Amino acid sequence: MRKFGQVLTDIKHGGHAVEETAPAAVALSAERESLTLLADAAGEVTFETPFDYLFADLANDPASHLPADDPAAVVAALKALGDAMVEEPLAAGEDPLQPAGNSTIPPVYTYWGQFLDHDLTANTDRNSEISDITKPDLAPLDPSFVVENLKNLRQPTVNLDSVYGDGPTFAGQPPTQAGSFYSGIKFKIGTASTNAGIGGVRIPPVDDLKRDLPRVNKIAQIADARNDENLIIAQLHTAFLRFHNAAVDWVRDYEPEHATNPVQHFERAQQLTRWQHQWLVINDFLDTMALPGIADEVLYRGAEHYYPMGDPFMPLEFSVAAYRFGHTMVRAAYDHNRNFGRPGPEGNTPLLPNSPFNLLFAFTGNGFPNPFLGQADVLPFNWIIEWDRFVDKGSSVPDHFARKIDTQLAPPLKDLVNEGNLVEEADPDKKVDIVAILKGLARRNLLRGYLLSIPTGQSVAEAMGIAPLTPEELTQGGSDTLKQVLTDNGFLERTPLWYYVLKEAEVRANGNSLGELGSRIVCETIIGQLRYDQTSYLNVPGGWDPGKGVRLPDGKPVVTIGGFIRFGGIPA
Ligand code: HEM
Repeated sequence: MRKFGQVLTDIKHGGHAVEETAPAAVALSAERESLTLLADAAGEVTFETPFDYLFADLANDPASHLPADDPAAVVAALKALGDAMVEEPLAAGEDPLQPAGNSTIPPVYTYWGQFLDHDLTANTDRNSEISDITKPDLAPLDPSFVVENLKNLRQPTVNLDSVYGDGPTFAGQPPTQAGSFYSGIKFKIGTASTNAGIGGVRIPPVDDLKRDLPRVNKIAQIADARNDENLIIAQLHTAFLRFHNAAVDWVRDYEPEHATNPVQHFERAQQLTRWQHQWLVINDFLDTMALPGIADEVLYRGAEHYYPMGDPFMPLEFSVAAYRFGHTMVRAAYDHNRNFGRPGPEGNTPLLPNSPFNLLFAFTGNGFPNPFLGQADVLPFNWIIEWDRFVDKGSSVPDHFARKIDTQLAPPLKDLVNEGNLVEEADPDKKVDIVAILKGLARRNLLRGYLLSIPTGQSVAEAMGIAPLTPEELTQGGSDTLKQVLTDNGFLERTPLWYYVLKEAEVRANGNSLGELGSRIVCETIIGQLRYDQTSYLNVPGGWDPGKGVRLPDGKPVVTIGGFIRFGGIPA
């Protein structure tokens, strides 16, 4: 059965100024029965899937929420908490690749995490009547109103709908939305620019310039525009396009029985790509991000909390709180490649000693001019990523690791260069306030959680039978300001779930994985979605593992994200 996914072009990771057109419902086809299928006035098809609370009883219990009697005071306190959760900028002369705060998790997991978020969930953060955190009278919404009105624009399972969209257009079939992203049954891949004026050395393999997303007038031609939000996720998306294309060749060469016609050939390559990725999500991603044993427990013993009674839904506690843990792993600077980081083995002179976080936004469809771009409107060759600096768990270089999962975010996340720039308000003071909210990631997460009535960390811990964090643990290692904001506003007894998940990771797992509560929410959601997805590798009769999938040139199966990237012909 073909699985459909929609193309999300008009969306940003954290979009604000994007207005939606009201869609009109159209008939469901049998294949799409578990999805609400909508078409707007232009006939473009969109899907909606449900959001709901994992802990519905808590969502409906005022005692399990942040205080609601004086919302303005809570909003002010959450803004102060958000500001206190961002690390001070480095003093002049301090090295941005400095080792303090590094975890044992290589940085590819940060952006693989963001990529997965875009495969699973979209729409908690768009500016609409339902979820506007900039409104002056912000107060918690009734949970039933949230569930009824806030809809996920992604299928909630790990099926790469963010990559495939609704697939290529096949001869004799109606055109798909994603049709122009394909060339036959392969994805189009963009070519990095070699225009004169771009400094730096070529990245190996030097003749392989098929390393960018396909672009038209800078805009990435991909099924989820959020995957062009920053250069690292865009490079990862490119790796997924190349994996699929390599899988098409693999099926032609090693499984010709599946390649007798284009539809079948495409579907088999897509299936191998999906199963391979799903297997890695459980056995590499969750194995790395969750406390040891929890992913296996959920896999083999089943979920304790995620039991959808009807269609699988995306838990709001996941999308709005627990799964936003990745924001704290983002670094202020990366050893990106031999031009923007450490020299290559031949000893070239880098253009910059590191890649500052803000430059990673320069190459997107919304990119802004900077001196390292030359005249290109595609990725310049000098910025192609060197994945071996991002995937190695055994690296001896301290900054080849993500920041710890803790309650401190890197300074650029307080002033996001790509957010809040389109806000138009007649009243300049109001505009200043709105922009200050949109540019601060920690503020946004906390206000979003309050608006969408996410239960507190303590109430969720109790419901899960996990000993709650003590006030000492909740304040451990925090600045005086942070401690004061938590203490003065009752947040030590009722802690916002996002902060709680981060602090749990920090004090109970040393910031090198999620803690028990965070691990359970994340594992139950992701593994649960795969269990309920009849097309996932977990439901293949007789079982499936990478031994039944594609092989690397050395004959080995793909068992790590590095291997996944390498199968597409990209060094990692
Ligand atoms: C460059 C790094 C990143 C930036 C700049 C960024 C920025 C944002 C912004 C601005 C929002 C909207 C917040 C709101 O208004 O509610 C958001 C949402 C979100 N982010 Fe990130 N993010 C990054 C990386 C990540 C990572 C690494 C993860 C997880 C591992 C993640 C998970 C999420 C999730 C789950 C949402 C909600 C999506 C939805 O359902 O609507 N993000 N992010």
